[in-house]
Amino acid sequence: MNRDIVLLRTVEVAAIASYKYIGKKDKDLVDKAAVEAFEVMLKNEKGFKLKVVNGEGELDQAPMLFVGQILGDLEDPSVMTYDVSVDPIEGTHPAAYNFAGSISTIAFSRENTMLQLPEMYMEKLFVSTELKESINLNKGIIESIKMMQLTANRRDLKCIILDKPRHKDIIKEMNDMGIIVRLIQDGDVLAAIDVVNGDADFVYGIGGAPEGSLMAALAISAGCKMQSKLVRYEQIWPNEQETEVRKNKEKAWLDKYNLDFDSILEDLDLVNDHRARFFAAGLTAGGSLKPVDYKNGKFYVNAFMSSHGIVRNFNSVYDVKKVNDLKPEIKFLFDKYKR
Ligand code: FBP
Repeated sequence: MNRDIVLLRTVEVAAIASYKYIGKKDKDLVDKAAVEAFEVMLKNEKGFKLKVVNGEGELDQAPMLFVGQILGDLEDPSVMTYDVSVDPIEGTHPAAYNFAGSISTIAFSRENTMLQLPEMYMEKLFVSTELKESINLNKGIIESIKMMQLTANRRDLKCIILDKPRHKDIIKEMNDMGIIVRLIQDGDVLAAIDVVNGDADFVYGIGGAPEGSLMAALAISAGCKMQSKLVRYEQIWPNEQETEVRKNKEKAWLDKYNLDFDSILEDLDLVNDHRARFFAAGLTAGGSLKPVDYKNGKFYVNAFMSSHGIVRNFNSVYDVKKVNDLKPEIKFLFDKYKR
């Protein structure tokens, strides 16, 4: 079947499977349901292979979707292999507590074009197509904002930012600069989708590095732009017990992945393929993606896809009675994860 349809259905079905666990205060259950949906949806799909570059962790931490795992058509050696970054549930906390911010997402690019990113923090600036020539994180975020305001010829640009103590000063500075700030608790990938869909002008802040790979694929495929820089754990959590342990881990990771804390990484440094594609479906979503809903035997899912600068938003309806025709495994998942 068509590769893009398969991936679109995969994120949709992952969101539907996890719906059973929203609001049940258990992040692992939400995640597990989505991971199983990915495994089931991609198993034995013909015509392509997917190699997990950023996934659920290393083999010893994750039974499925681990880094290096190959999914899809394992039998035919002649089919194309793609690199993927995958987050079956991005925003497990909002999903577990049923507030806005969680999606299921995957992005792919040609083999050996995706950078593997460690579980570190990353400063990220993701901007709309109109502002893509106006940012330079080498000069800092304030200079970049001034340049964006100049390009847009207005002060009241809309920014989405994680509402975390580490952003207290920059939020104040942005307020003073006339920026309209939207604070979110989680989910900077969804925030970037909101920029693509025209609900905001940029996303800024320190969040997870693996999410950066997905955001880079989104920027490239939707014609936007992202710049980023790795950040020390110590900068965010100076006095935690974990900080010393992290210092050593981070040093090892940087050596292993040939990265550093000083370089500004362009989106193409993270995903070096202009033909990268990005897919997502809303779980508890919010912003420009609606949450999953179930009414009278039908699941309603809002999905998103971008490629070659083309952006598509889908309202998909799955009739539970008919999914058996689609793929019997989907019926099995829907039965297993019925609320
Ligand atoms: P999870 O999917 O791991 O729950 O991540 C959600 C998220 O909000 C990301 O969107 C964001 O990049 C990161 O966590 C921020 O990390 P922290 O919660 O440590 O501030």
